[in-house]
Amino acid sequence: FTKITEIELPAAYDAHVHLRDGEMAQLVTPTIRQGGVSQVYVMPNLVPPITTIEQCLSYRKRLQAVEPKVEYFMSLYLHESLTPDIIREAKKAGITGVKSYPAGVTTNSSSGVLDYNVFYPIFAAMEEENMVLNLHGEVPSTPSSAPLKSPSSSASSDTAPSPPAAAAAAAITILNAEPAFLPTLLSLHQHFPNLRIVLEHCSTSAAINTVRACGPSVSGTITAHHLSLIIDDWAGDPFHFCKPVAKTPEDRDALIRAVVASDGRFFLGTDSAPHDGGKKRGEDKIAAGVFTQPYAVGYVLDALEVGVKRGVIEEASVTKEVLEGFLGKWGRKFYGIEDEKNERIVLRKGGEEIVGILTKGGLGVQVVPYRRGEKTWKV
Ligand code: NCD
Ligand code: DOR
Ligand code: ZN
Ligand code: ZN
Repeated sequence: FTKITEIELPAAYDAHVHLRDGEMAQLVTPTIRQGGVSQVYVMPNLVPPITTIEQCLSYRKRLQAVEPKVEYFMSLYLHESLTPDIIREAKKAGITGVKSYPAGVTTNSSSGVLDYNVFYPIFAAMEEENMVLNLHGEVPSTPSSAPLKSPSSSASSDTAPSPPAAAAAAAITILNAEPAFLPTLLSLHQHFPNLRIVLEHCSTSAAINTVRACGPSVSGTITAHHLSLIIDDWAGDPFHFCKPVAKTPEDRDALIRAVVASDGRFFLGTDSAPHDGGKKRGEDKIAAGVFTQPYAVGYVLDALEVGVKRGVIEEASVTKEVLEGFLGKWGRKFYGIEDEKNERIVLRKGGEEIVGILTKGGLGVQVVPYRRGEKTWKV
């Protein structure tokens, strides 16, 4: 694999993209194919979030108008206004799934979920309709001002006695927010064993192990950037800051191994998350998100090559089957998506220089891509 300089593959399926709306959508949507991708699953965290079928279908039309040569699979934002009837109608209308964001954890998640139990009727309808539930698998951080003895913020009852400080659950921070969510994944899977669930953007070896411990109705997506970033990279660099944050080198290496040992359980969802330069460098809180869309497939190939060179995975484990599977076949299979056009891409190693800033004449937004200025594979 590391000696190969040209590869031909099926065009990729990116099972997790943020395309935004308006000018940002005009800037980033045309870069999907440049990244080697022909089909995408689109996240609904617009402002306001996509919570109705009408909003969802008109959003798809706007994306199609910007770039007709991509196929868009759509999601609704899990919200208290959803009903089982809306789920059934959404299925008929061709909507693929529902994304759940925990309240306040990441970009535009202020309308997100506080308590998963209240959505059980929605999950039951989704299971019946064979829709996909996409989980942003993090629990909210414990406020830094929380008193020492308080039970964890997720405690469900006012009447339960407060545990002594020593027995209280560890405070949640962005470092353990994903492991702390995994019991919720297991419980959802137990209650709805036939509901297809995707644990999005797995960032820890604990997440990989938990997905594997579930039945075949549960899969995980892995981003391109979590295959190379670690904590030290985003400490001090806004362009490497995303949610979930990149974790330890051991976690990153577990993700690289999960790609080649996926057995179809893990596939690409880039979580490409463009933010205007000002939101990354301004004086306000920095927006979470790494922008990877224009070079999606190239970044994955690069990360696997580094994985081989560092001895994390065997050269021989990066087979054509693994590349075709992780980049498209396994995600399409889980989602039941046909690759009708059967487009192929050819990639040339090191043939593309990653731009410093993505801009477009007439648009008032600009985005800095991941690994700006470096070389990657050219599609
Ligand atoms: C906020 C946060 O960090 O919690 N946003 C972010 O990371 N982009 C919260 C929010 O926007 O809901
Ligand atoms: O880093 C992230 N950015 N994580 C998410 O879950 C949301 C995304 C965004 O929308 O910017
Ligand atoms: Zn997410
Ligand atoms: Zn996302």
